[in-house]
Amino acid sequence: MDTPPATEQPNVYPLSWHRETAKMEEIWASSQRDQWDPLKLPWDTFDPSSYTWEQREAIAYWWTLLSVFDASAPPVFAEALIKTYEVHEEDAVRRCFFSVTRDEQMHEQMCGLAITKFLEHPDPLTYEPKTELGKKLQKNAQWLYFNGGRYWDGYKKAVPRYSLAILFSSFLMGEIAAATIFHQMAAGSKEPVFQAAFRNIGRDEGRHMAICMSLMERDYPKLDLSERSLITKQIRAGYLFLSAVLFEPPMEFWDLPADFIDNQREGEAVARAAGFFIPEYEQKKENWRNAMLNLKGVLDRYNIPFPAIPEVGISGEEITDIDMDDIIPVF
Ligand SMILES: [Fe+2]
Ligand SMILES: [Fe+2]
Repeated sequence: MDTPPATEQPNVYPLSWHRETAKMEEIWASSQRDQWDPLKLPWDTFDPSSYTWEQREAIAYWWTLLSVFDASAPPVFAEALIKTYEVHEEDAVRRCFFSVTRDEQMHEQMCGLAITKFLEHPDPLTYEPKTELGKKLQKNAQWLYFNGGRYWDGYKKAVPRYSLAILFSSFLMGEIAAATIFHQMAAGSKEPVFQAAFRNIGRDEGRHMAICMSLMERDYPKLDLSERSLITKQIRAGYLFLSAVLFEPPMEFWDLPADFIDNQREGEAVARAAGFFIPEYEQKKENWRNAMLNLKGVLDRYNIPFPAIPEVGISGEEITDIDMDDIIPVF
């Protein structure tokens, strides 16, 4: 019998299940063990009507801020998952990216549930605010949504151009800081349903961090020089992008009105007073700084220069020319 012509390579799917990175197998196994469902959290203990409308709008705003990142993560990782097939990544790497896509979908669902219950409306942008603070926070949400939407075209162009290790170089920093913040929020929240959600989300982010680390350990020793400077730039871009949720948005990069940060701080103070724990400015700054120092420790091992992050007191290589096209958004 004749055999068909050879399939031109690389084609979209591998027909192989190579197992090379043992660490990835372990992470996949823990992602299977840790699966959770936002719908199955103890919602019966949660009564939104025990909050004032100002408190409800303030806490819903925080979930909206998070969802600007977590609702864009599923398509971002779905795209990356496709890439793992196109480049015929080893089996466990494909599974790990699949698990991140799934986890981020859970995080997005959680944001949606919290927002819908607090606002009694499934969409924070078309919701009609009931308080003055609610109006200001909705304007903030509109600006965040506008900014968050600007990078998608750049990302789609970047995915075929760069290797996974470069695409996800700034991811690690985001995941380190995210894991820390969510664990703090789990410990500080008064609602059992949010304690449980943040515990699960924090654990997921910790796993994402481990995926990123294993990828770096596997691929960074093989990098050439041009790729190193690209990573330095990516880290600076990641800092600018993720600061909006993990710290405060840098105004020179995020296109936001002058009262944005004041409004956000006012909302956070109301949410905090209502028992929804959000770290204070100094605490966020310390989390963020530690995450970056952690990442710097990793990059130092591979002689990859770290960018200057003067905002949190880290010196390094000056990076000034960052625009939206350079952003590879990951969370
Ligand atoms: Fe997430
Ligand atoms: Fe994540």
